[in-house]
Amino acid sequence: MDIAEYNRKAWDSQVEAGNCWTIPVSSEVIAAAREGNWKVVLTPQKPVPNTWFPKMNGLKILGLASGGGQQAPIFAAAGAHVTVIDNSTRQLEQDQYVAQRDGLEIKSVLGDMRDLSCFRADTFDVVFNPCSVSFIPSVQTMFDEVFRVLRPGGLLMCGFVNPVRFIFDEDQLKIGVLAVRHKLPYSDQTHLSQAELEQLRADGEPFVFSHSLEDLIAGQLKSGFVLRDMFEDSSPPSEETLSRFLPTCLATLAQKPPTQ
Ligand SMILES: C[S@@+](CC[C@H](N)C(=O)[O-])C[C@H]1O[C@@H](n2cnc3c(N)ncnc32)[C@H](O)[C@@H]1O
Repeated sequence: MDIAEYNRKAWDSQVEAGNCWTIPVSSEVIAAAREGNWKVVLTPQKPVPNTWFPKMNGLKILGLASGGGQQAPIFAAAGAHVTVIDNSTRQLEQDQYVAQRDGLEIKSVLGDMRDLSCFRADTFDVVFNPCSVSFIPSVQTMFDEVFRVLRPGGLLMCGFVNPVRFIFDEDQLKIGVLAVRHKLPYSDQTHLSQAELEQLRADGEPFVFSHSLEDLIAGQLKSGFVLRDMFEDSSPPSEETLSRFLPTCLATLAQKPPTQ
């Protein structure tokens, strides 16, 4: 099965369904960003520290699997040159909707986050990747590709779901019960019953995968990055039972060494 092809249609339908990660920011948010007042997330709630970002004016940012009319238009309004690569046409359209509404320029590229061959080496100052590697089976190719397209000294900001989030029975979680069911690494494809998979498809839900912390963090180091900072975050406890007990997401700041 072609996961990217399936997940493209799933994310297109998430836009139709109004998933919160597909809802464009308002004109007020863009106006404030033009004045230098802005914040973005890599994880559900906690803003990325502004100290992670170099001066925005003229910064070349690649939004990696970051469509949805959220971070990209804010970066553009704050003065950056923004390109977004995303696997969903509808998610890219959300960025273009804000760009047209508020007079911003965003370059949109339909593609897979694991294949950045359309970009030259040493192109971007920042690659911004909000929690989206859960939608690909493995992460190393993506980190290697990001390392190639970042200029020396460039920064990679990533949001991740903590793998422990995947050990629980999803239906039980929805009713607030923490029932351990799955051995990691998790994949919808291999861990769900036929009936559950059919339900997932019928609901237009994307297929997800867990990744070990070793793959997520040492994987960046293996590509050549140096880890600079990290933080943990969660969804609101009213939306996610597990976050009452531990932070369910993390974000990392990594750098391609300035000289190689
Ligand atoms: C949770 S959303 C992230 C964007 C959102 N603005 C945010 O802040 O979280 C996940 C995004 O990953 C994209 N995506 C999923 N699989 C992908 C792939 N293989 N390559 C590129 N993008 C992908 C989806 O289309 C979707 O826009």
